Amino acid sequence: MVTKGSEHRTRASEDAVGELTPEQKAALGGGASFWRTKAVAGVSAVAMSDGPHGVRFQAEAGDHLGLGGSVPATCFPPAVGLAQSWDPELARRVGAALADEAQAVGLGVLLGPGINIKRDPRCGRNFEYFSEDPYLSGRLAIEWVRGLQSGGVGASLKHFAVNNQEHDRMRTSAEVDQRTLREIYLRAFERVVRDAEPWTVMCSYNRINGVYASQNRWLLTDVLRDTWGFDGLVVSDWGAVADRVAAVAAGLDLQMPGDTAADDAAVVTAASDGRLDASAVDRAARAVARLSARVDAGRRDVTVDADAHHALAREAAGRSIVLLKNENDLLPLDTRRSVAVIGAFAEDPRYQGGGSSHVTPTRVDSPLEEIRAAVDGEVTFARGFDTGGMADAGALRAEAVRTAAAADVAVVFAGLAASQESEGFDRDDIDVPGDQLALLEEVVAAQSNTVVVVSAGGVLRLAPVHASARAILGGALLGQAGGGAIADVLTGAVNPSGRVAETFPLRLEDAPSYPHFPGEHSRVRYGEGIFVGYRGYDVRGQDVLYPFGHGLSYTSFGYDGLDLAVDGEGILARVTVTNTGERAGREVVQLYASVATSTVSRAPRELVGFGSVDLEPGASTVISVRIERRDLAYWDDRLNRWVVEGGTYRIEAGASSRDLRLGEDVEMDGDDGRLPFTLESTLGELMSDPVGAQALGEAFASFAPAGDGGGEALGVDMLRMAASIPIGRMVRGFGAGSGVGAAEVQALLDSINARNSAGD
Ligand code: BGC
Repeated sequence: MVTKGSEHRTRASEDAVGELTPEQKAALGGGASFWRTKAVAGVSAVAMSDGPHGVRFQAEAGDHLGLGGSVPATCFPPAVGLAQSWDPELARRVGAALADEAQAVGLGVLLGPGINIKRDPRCGRNFEYFSEDPYLSGRLAIEWVRGLQSGGVGASLKHFAVNNQEHDRMRTSAEVDQRTLREIYLRAFERVVRDAEPWTVMCSYNRINGVYASQNRWLLTDVLRDTWGFDGLVVSDWGAVADRVAAVAAGLDLQMPGDTAADDAAVVTAASDGRLDASAVDRAARAVARLSARVDAGRRDVTVDADAHHALAREAAGRSIVLLKNENDLLPLDTRRSVAVIGAFAEDPRYQGGGSSHVTPTRVDSPLEEIRAAVDGEVTFARGFDTGGMADAGALRAEAVRTAAAADVAVVFAGLAASQESEGFDRDDIDVPGDQLALLEEVVAAQSNTVVVVSAGGVLRLAPVHASARAILGGALLGQAGGGAIADVLTGAVNPSGRVAETFPLRLEDAPSYPHFPGEHSRVRYGEGIFVGYRGYDVRGQDVLYPFGHGLSYTSFGYDGLDLAVDGEGILARVTVTNTGERAGREVVQLYASVATSTVSRAPRELVGFGSVDLEPGASTVISVRIERRDLAYWDDRLNRWVVEGGTYRIEAGASSRDLRLGEDVEMDGDDGRLPFTLESTLGELMSDPVGAQALGEAFASFAPAGDGGGEALGVDMLRMAASIPIGRMVRGFGAGSGVGAAEVQALLDSINARNSAGD
């Protein structure tokens, strides 16, 4: 916890930086070892480690590929799972538990959360990220960071920025327009930096519009520090620095990992011969000193209660499971009946992703054993398939079919093996492995009561599964307690309330980014622009299998009376939610906004708020959700700032982005989004401005064309045609002989501009 006293110590240690030699300052900006910074003069070393969903503390040799071992720690659901909870408060509790585990092994910074946007379903690292939507990602990450930092451990918001693929990740340039950057790829970062004040931000490996993130002054200084007010430390991703001097000049504070002696020396030389501003070296050293002081001030003696953390991991996993389909209420299972459990992942669960985030769990729940413990009827098991392809597939299938046929219900565990998705590479397709589909088809033919539990870090093309199985649980990756949580949901001990945080398309080719991913020659063009995820499917009116926000329950909910109240902060939305079914359950209410009269191209709807409520059967409550004004804004790339358009906003409340139950219109005052008029402004632009229309009307009254102005004869609407003509050219082309020249029009424009800026 950062207190007043600790803030004072933070400043004191930053002040001490002024006394350091150039060599000492430069030394602070480079790591000492794989996971530690240097202790220099009064500044103590900071220990860091991955992250994000568990503590990967390596007592011995370090690596960032997840190859070496690490001491056992609770493996909470990775972001792909946790995001499906749509539960920021849960994310905060997980963050706080992670802080305890980090403290117990002496870590000052946990390298997470990862909040990159899931631009394409093939990205190998999507399991480490929350969502395709920046609002949802931001809300969850804010609480995760708050939870962690309230326990005295710094977060590292990563990977800043636009790191949305693994292919060529250390070189590729993400080519993205400004509006898309701000609205989609930077928006969650902005929100978390402003609202949760992470102690560190980790810059990504890739380039953004040609410039490495680590050397990107626009990103690290103009946007992050000067606009968002970030006061923490910018650390490089491990090995992301190609040129330390350029990086420090751009805004990087700490190069990781160590040993960086040669680069430290290069910084000293560049500062002494004037190629690098000494103030940049001071800034970096001060940031390291500030972080070190924050970590020292937050240090606590903690003994981790592994059982309690395992229980939290189970609760989190249970809240993160999505009931994707449940035909004729096949689920929850009748626990008196017999169950055939099928699939290799029932014995060896897929519960986390591969690479730098890979945690050594304290224990792992076996779904099979957990189902055995939860079901009174007989539980049988058949492996069904072998992810290594080492066994006779036909024989495995035949055994599984026999087992399924002999039971009352079959539960098939399907998904991707660890070798099929990981940090470091992207997938080529999103298909469920063919042997598993063949198995499922045969099992369903023998046992119509078949449930499928899907485990994978990335979205899969589930259409064939949906077509054959009667019920489907979307398990994503659920962490070490996922097995118990799956049993809880299958048996109804937990009523599922998770919602997908990423659209499940009917086919990969439907994904908005499909033709642009992963680029070539170290460049990837973000050609779909702002239309990422559901924004892209919606704008093209495309059918999807499971829309963003989808998730069923063992009960049902009614929505009534959407009430909207506008105030200076935004809109307060209130909806009455009633549990109309027979079981207690939790409903996630989602709010989407759209602007019918927008002057810019916008998605048909965007998530701008959500909240959840637990209700007993028959119970009703009013849920209040605050829609913040800033979330209604678009990025105006001419004005280089956010603009809330004035006009009518449609606010819809629903159970998913395509299950909208209520909608109301509300009027919002807009921000001033006007640019001064010039000779390049069109007649239409001037006419749509009240002051402009009046002034033009007065000035040109005497030139009004007789009759219809010739439009009818030409078969055109003259005014609409003329609307697109820049006023300067109109005067030049059509004003000859009228006595009205460019100077007169400029004077008119000046007077319109003056009246507009005076607020007439
Ligand atoms: C990953 C980071 C990670 C770092 C340290 C890098 O390869 O991109 O997410 O924090 O290694 O392990």
